[in-house]
Amino acid sequence: SEAKEELRRGLEGVLAAETRIGYVNGSDGKLFYRGYEINSLVEQSNYEEVSYLLLYGHLPKRGEYEEYVKRLREEMPLPDEVLSLIKNIGGRTHPMSALRTVISYLSVLDSMESDSSTKNQERIGISLIARMPSIVGAIHRVYSGKEIIKPDPELGYASNFFYMSTGARPDPVESKIMDTALIIHADHGMNASTFSALVTISTMADMYSAITSAIGTLKGPLHGGANERALKMIQSVGRPENAEKVLKVMTDKGERVMGFGHRVYKVYDPRAKILKRYAEYFAERKGNETFKTAQIIEELMINKYGERGIFPNVDFYSGMIYDAMGFRTEIFTPIFATGRISGWVARALEYSTENRLFRPKALYVGEKGPRKYIPIQDRD
Ligand code: SDX
Repeated sequence: SEAKEELRRGLEGVLAAETRIGYVNGSDGKLFYRGYEINSLVEQSNYEEVSYLLLYGHLPKRGEYEEYVKRLREEMPLPDEVLSLIKNIGGRTHPMSALRTVISYLSVLDSMESDSSTKNQERIGISLIARMPSIVGAIHRVYSGKEIIKPDPELGYASNFFYMSTGARPDPVESKIMDTALIIHADHGMNASTFSALVTISTMADMYSAITSAIGTLKGPLHGGANERALKMIQSVGRPENAEKVLKVMTDKGERVMGFGHRVYKVYDPRAKILKRYAEYFAERKGNETFKTAQIIEELMINKYGERGIFPNVDFYSGMIYDAMGFRTEIFTPIFATGRISGWVARALEYSTENRLFRPKALYVGEKGPRKYIPIQDRD
């Protein structure tokens, strides 16, 4: 029946909303934030400015920039009871679950949490953008069995994130790479976690609930969780010469190879191209074979699946960069969330003005009915 035609599994290709925030060109492999191509932002901007751009639609004038940076710096330190919550969670759960829990807890401290006016949603959103580095940094330190480090007001956003997470101040290259990683993760069209945030905000629920929904969604291995699994997969292959055999076993079993494939990109993910260069830089510095093994896996995958539009995505090389900078694998997805917080907030604010409830249909293929009710004593 024509109802069958309507079914679009996973909403593939469905245009669910209008946006001015970002555009993913899946056939040319290009990514734009408010019309600026990602490489031009990586080369000339920084995360604070990109975050402002996503929220407000234009590059900030000097005064706007300084005010925004000052606001992020002021709101970055965490209240003591949040620090003790993070210590109490300790290493008992996956850092993405810890992150989801802490973000949700912040609403307990906010008497205005349920005011769904755009002004209040924006206030909450900016405080979450400011606090993600401190929260993820503190989770990483506690998960690694170390003391929590408070933000250093002298450091920029990305460098402070690096410092609060690893305990070391980044060198200029590490600072640039950390900033680039956050920029390229900041927004990406109607991806699953952004969609979750929009579905939540579309009911006029609060920004804490919207971002909690997004974090829960990002955790999955088909989405943000892939970066952790991709590095584990590369490390499980070990020597470059093992790649062909291991990949064959995985693909023969129909397993998804983490870090490859994308709902929109049918060519090489432009973010993976940027990260690959940094992964190569660290490979030379660390002198291990991980990058070489990754390159073989990439070649084999492109040879086997390239013509079906399956190429490396943002999650394939990011893990080995974070590993080289001293982050544990379990914190890779929270790093992704730290970049994406600006896109989630920007799109939730944009959609909240639309005020249109997300409520699709499902194609019913169950029992025709009406079925006759049989009392339990007559069922055996
Ligand atoms: C991110 O949406 C976004 O923008 C996400 C993201 C963002 O910035 O927010 O870009 C970040 O999440 C990147 C993707 C990270 N996920 C992974 O690396 C997990 C592995 N990738 C696959 O699970 C898959 O490619 C998805 C989930 C990313 C996309 O899946 P689709 O669009 O639903 O495509 P599909 O699963 O239907 O696959 C189409 C075909 C299938 O073959 P058939 O079953 O039709 O024969 O391609 C094959 C798949 O088997 N395929 C793969 C594959 N990805 C797709 N085969 C092996 N390995 C893979 N990785």
